Amino acid sequence: MVTNAQYNKMAVKTAEKVHKARQLWKQNLQRQTRTIEQKFPKNYRPGFGVAMEYERMGNQHISEELSDLSLSLNLRLEHLGITLGTLIHGLDLAKPLDDNMVRCLRKILLERKVIFFRNQVIDPEELVRFASYFGELDAFPFGKGNEKNPFVLEIIHGEESPGNQNGWHTDVTWMENPSLGSVAQCIVLPPYGGDTLFSDSHACYLGMPTKLRDKVRYIWGENDYRGFLGEHSSGGLSEELVNEIKSVIPFGVNHPLFRTHPETKKTALYINPSFIRPESLYDIRNDNKLGESVSKTIISELLKQHNQPEYTCRFKWEKGSIAFWDNRAVQHFATSDYYPHQRVLRRVTISGDRPYFDSESDDTYLSG
Ligand code: SIN
Repeated sequence: MVTNAQYNKMAVKTAEKVHKARQLWKQNLQRQTRTIEQKFPKNYRPGFGVAMEYERMGNQHISEELSDLSLSLNLRLEHLGITLGTLIHGLDLAKPLDDNMVRCLRKILLERKVIFFRNQVIDPEELVRFASYFGELDAFPFGKGNEKNPFVLEIIHGEESPGNQNGWHTDVTWMENPSLGSVAQCIVLPPYGGDTLFSDSHACYLGMPTKLRDKVRYIWGENDYRGFLGEHSSGGLSEELVNEIKSVIPFGVNHPLFRTHPETKKTALYINPSFIRPESLYDIRNDNKLGESVSKTIISELLKQHNQPEYTCRFKWEKGSIAFWDNRAVQHFATSDYYPHQRVLRRVTISGDRPYFDSESDDTYLSG
């Protein structure tokens, strides 16, 4: 039986030897030139994906040009994550914005993927005015709208309806032209929790297991809004109403699983688990269906990707806070950890365009 004192003596001697061996190993490594990829473990790649995305951003949170422009407009930027998420201080959205400011905010959104504001005292019309600076708006046919304004969706959770946006997703992929971005404001804050997390879909694409990425490169899938119609029952809607909805709002639209961002040209992993039909995947090069079992396996692998903490930043709401996310560049996840308390957000979505995938746009960032 080894006494504690004997054990400690051996442990100290061993530590010296281990330290020496590691020093030698490190010196050897430093003599070799290793790629960024070689520095990260092969079997867990999110760190590598983030590093590649950050490198593409010039190893800085934001470009110098945009940092100067923001300063010239008296904006102070507080970055929440390495490749995504910036809290913008110094702006009152109750006042109209001029073109210069809108251009600057749009550029910050494009570089940072999701932006935030605090303490905004604005009504639904002013929220709509803010969102409209960035494009036309989409009314939401399946939620509770603000009676005065069809573009404002109220997302209300509480004792009778626990939060259910707690899955990684990008908004409204059931649309032919899913939204460019969503602007949400916190109206009622629960006493604890209710944070929203955002995950970088570009870093996620770059950090995906290579085999999975190669498999998915040309795969598309069908998305629809049957979840809003009631998957297992009529969901309170008559057959007649369901048929009427389907006759005016296209039901079943095909989108690529990798999407080229139409402005930055970067590729994103693009999927919404609630709307993609699990058996629907097909190869765009020959229209061949992958079959239900392969489709389901691929989807379940893809759905694990955004969930890795390296890709994410977390936003803690305060009453009046606003988040504006680029649906083409991030996924989000609303934590449902505040039951039975109430949480209310107002959300406006900005119209987007038809997703496409340009297979060459990211080639320089892909590795074997
Ligand atoms: C959403 O999924 O659009 C809502 C986000 C949130 O409730 O934080």
